[in-house]
Amino acid sequence: MQDIRVQKTFEALFALEDIREIFRGTLPTGLNETEEQEFQKKISALKKVINELESGTGKPEVFRLAGNLPVRDREESFINIQPIQAAGKLTVDARKALIAYGDGYSTCDSCKKPFRLDKITKPGIADFHSELADFLNMDEARVVPGARRGFQAVASSLLEKGDIALVSSLSHYTEFLSVENAGGIVKEVPLNENNIITAEATAEKIEAIIRETGKTPKIMMMDHFDYQLANEHEIKEISKVSHQYDIPLLYNGAYTVGVMPVDGKDLGADFVIGSGHKSMASAAPSGVLATTEEWAPVVFRTTQMKGDLTERKFGIKEVEMLGCTLMGGTLFSMMASFPAVKERVKHWDEEVDKSNYLMDRLLSISGSKVLSEYPRKHALSKIDTTDSFDTVAKSHPKRGYYLSDELSKRGIVGLFPGATRAWKLSTYGLSRDRVKYLGDSLVEIAEKYGLEVR
Ligand SMILES: Cc1ncc(COP(=O)(O)O)c(C=O)c1O
Repeated sequence: MQDIRVQKTFEALFALEDIREIFRGTLPTGLNETEEQEFQKKISALKKVINELESGTGKPEVFRLAGNLPVRDREESFINIQPIQAAGKLTVDARKALIAYGDGYSTCDSCKKPFRLDKITKPGIADFHSELADFLNMDEARVVPGARRGFQAVASSLLEKGDIALVSSLSHYTEFLSVENAGGIVKEVPLNENNIITAEATAEKIEAIIRETGKTPKIMMMDHFDYQLANEHEIKEISKVSHQYDIPLLYNGAYTVGVMPVDGKDLGADFVIGSGHKSMASAAPSGVLATTEEWAPVVFRTTQMKGDLTERKFGIKEVEMLGCTLMGGTLFSMMASFPAVKERVKHWDEEVDKSNYLMDRLLSISGSKVLSEYPRKHALSKIDTTDSFDTVAKSHPKRGYYLSDELSKRGIVGLFPGATRAWKLSTYGLSRDRVKYLGDSLVEIAEKYGLEVR
């Protein structure tokens, strides 16, 4: 770790957990003599750590948790540019919620009739569900274990064996899998020369499918910003086309919900899906599936099954949700981050601005290219440094690894080790100082290896 105080912060947190553990084992009447002694011992250990933390002294004492889990200080000791991790970093309230609600079924302390997660009022899980729907301007929302489980619920509700699902040529693999799981078939809309999915291409593809198969697709799954280039696709126009053919539109907001404003009704989405751990500052696996009044009875349909012996029925349980979904710390981390998430989406333009600043710094290094659409409309970008950083890799003893090494020496992580050609990064959530430092570091490395900087 770069700064012993980071290590000591973790050790202090762990020491507090050791103290907490005493309370978790004692009688409700209070600590007995041995426990009091244990408590005093742990307090002394904590004080020692606090002293070291304050003075920045001492040696690391805790290296691994439970013998094999290294202490993860990626977000404390480094600037992390790994694109899938940027917007899933927990807020401080989410981290506190995890401490308080990490136990298994912690959502269920006051679960009363009708016994369903989204109906729980203490704490306000029911309210959170309606706030989530409002946030996306949709009628109903459920939390799901990741965007992929949202796709799965929709695909399984709408597709029969052999049905066609239309997806983008840059769609995520989980969209494919959700269709396959439901017995459907994917058909892809091609990209235009700028790597954008247009409404026109969508209409052409639908026509072609109808001509060739005689069938109209049963669903259209479209990423607003895709995961490969984070290009913006013509989602609103695509939704219009889709509805002209009566095809419901699933809006994949894995890279939008929680980072930029998303208005489902305005976009014409029938389903809006977001990823909690990718873009809503939540623990994994978490996500949201929101829909309209029209589709809610389909995708949130309740069980109709009856036991043949016992005649048991579980009336209000929703089939696709398998009853309840996020039953502990994941949900509370989402709820705890939600106020900050609602606020941060209002500042998306600042995130885009930082992204463009960094791209400009990169482009000042001769030979570098931005593969994503440019100027950027997103914090995630794919760049090509084949004619800049990769030229150094050819003769460097560490080959392509020199770049990740140079970056990590400067406290920057998240670049795929060895990558010097096409690679992705995200500036999401980084302060201006950090983005400048990142730009300065790339330029400094370029200059160190004699690349031309304009
Ligand atoms: C575009 C896109 N859709 C869906 C997913 C799946 O999201 P989750 O991990 O929340 O299931 C991802 C992330 O991996 C993604 O990038």
